[in-house]
Amino acid sequence: MTADDGLLLFSWRGCLFRVGERVQPPKAGSLFFCRHLPVRAGERVLEIGSGLGLAAVLAARAGAHVVATDIVPDAVEAIRGNAALNGVSIDVRLGDCYAPVRGERFDLICSNPPQMPTPPGRERADAAAAADNGGVDGWQILDRIIDGAPEHVAPGGRLVFSIFGFLGRKSAFARLEARGFSPAVLGSEVQTFPRIGYERLEHIRSVDTEGALASGVPTTVERLIVQGTRA
Ligand SMILES: C[S@@+](CC[C@H](N)C(=O)[O-])C[C@H]1O[C@@H](n2cnc3c(N)ncnc32)[C@H](O)[C@@H]1O
Repeated sequence: MTADDGLLLFSWRGCLFRVGERVQPPKAGSLFFCRHLPVRAGERVLEIGSGLGLAAVLAARAGAHVVATDIVPDAVEAIRGNAALNGVSIDVRLGDCYAPVRGERFDLICSNPPQMPTPPGRERADAAAAADNGGVDGWQILDRIIDGAPEHVAPGGRLVFSIFGFLGRKSAFARLEARGFSPAVLGSEVQTFPRIGYERLEHIRSVDTEGALASGVPTTVERLIVQGTRA
């Protein structure tokens, strides 16, 4: 960063977050995710794909013991910086999905993962793509998070994640039930249709198997926070 680059800060709920370069600034989906996170003091919490560390910092401030991960090194640096800025302790780790927490279990695993359906041949390797692209049907990272959950969620614990409505509520429930989790929707919100979605609208329609997307050119999209509770 040079002296003329400027400094982007985000202030929310009494916390201050420095928005580093190459890390996605907080979006409506980030705040929606944090608003519906059922964090309890004393719990062991894992956030996968923590970005700036918004949810992780708030969970740590609520008294949870937090491990926050991201696959992008700049994000890991941002989470560490934002934890320090807000005087909370977070165990921040670099890595892909569950790789940084092999053999560990948590009371709550949460993620607002990349989930924008991405047409074949449009994958990229940069940090913006890591924040947005969810594979061809949007479920690529989510499926890995759900598949690995039985190994990492403690008995009675919860897995909580966000989805775009067009990924399918029934689909999310079926995936959780197949892994032994009881599904529920913790919150829903109608948000502005994401800009990146317009350029791949036809592709999104092709994967919207539950018909959640409005016809024509949509201006809004439903977001859901889904929870799976382990028996
Ligand atoms: C949609 S952003 C959400 C960031 C933040 N949690 C929020 O709500 O604002 C998704 C984040 O997941 C990270 N990510 C993408 N793929 C990942 C993977 N395989 N393992 C861990 N993190 C990943 C991205 O770098 C990005 O920071």
